[in-house]
Amino acid sequence: MRKKIVAGNWKMNKTMDEAVALTSEIVNMAKDEVRNDAQVILCPPALYLTTIQKYITDLPNFAIAAQNVSDKLSGAYTGEISAVMLQSIGIKYVLIGHSERRQYFNEDNALLAEKVNISLAHGISPIFCCGESLNQRQNEDYIGFVKNQLTESLFHLSEEQLLNIVIAYEPIWAIGTGMTASAEQAQEMHAALRAHIASKYGQEVADNISILYGGSVSAASAPELFQAPDIDGGLVGGACLKSRDFTEIIKAR
Ligand code: 13P
Repeated sequence: MRKKIVAGNWKMNKTMDEAVALTSEIVNMAKDEVRNDAQVILCPPALYLTTIQKYITDLPNFAIAAQNVSDKLSGAYTGEISAVMLQSIGIKYVLIGHSERRQYFNEDNALLAEKVNISLAHGISPIFCCGESLNQRQNEDYIGFVKNQLTESLFHLSEEQLLNIVIAYEPIWAIGTGMTASAEQAQEMHAALRAHIASKYGQEVADNISILYGGSVSAASAPELFQAPDIDGGLVGGACLKSRDFTEIIKAR
């Protein structure tokens, strides 16, 4: 059965000292709270990956994710980080398709498909983010829009490849706004995405894909969200920068 996952996306926050302090606090508070079938994933800025990794090496339920990867293999791409580089330091997960990357760095579904391919080819599991804007939710077929994000970036994969993907549904209107989607709103989308996966890959594959919810997840909102049948955990932004809040969210899972 699919994994329960709580991931913390630090985005562009924290100095090295702060990053180390946050990690050791989280590890100390949460290490005995993580159930056997669950996984905690920390997504620090790339500069800190190897340092943060040392704090979780003996903890099988903890993993580290990069926040981005290049769609190119190597070469003259100043400032970029390749899948080969991430693989060479033992990184197992990478965020792909976050709405901030789609919006500020013009990453479209086709480019994201390339990033998915290059990550899988190097043994790195994409945490593939998708989600609609407020305008899309109010005026368009918002479920169809998000399903299409999956179709265009993931549905070329084999069944075996797809089983290495984690999906994170993050409605843009809920990110950093304090406006969490209700458990009903999130469950509706998660069930629709799982059905969409089942329509292409079959129910058994769909039942094995973890679909996380992201967007203003807090210690207060996590328990109800995580009880919904198709919500397999969370991708947490703001609240993961405080060890106590993040630990409470881990416990909610
Ligand atoms: P917030 O939890 O701050 O809304 O951020 C969510 C997010 O973007 C995680 O990737």
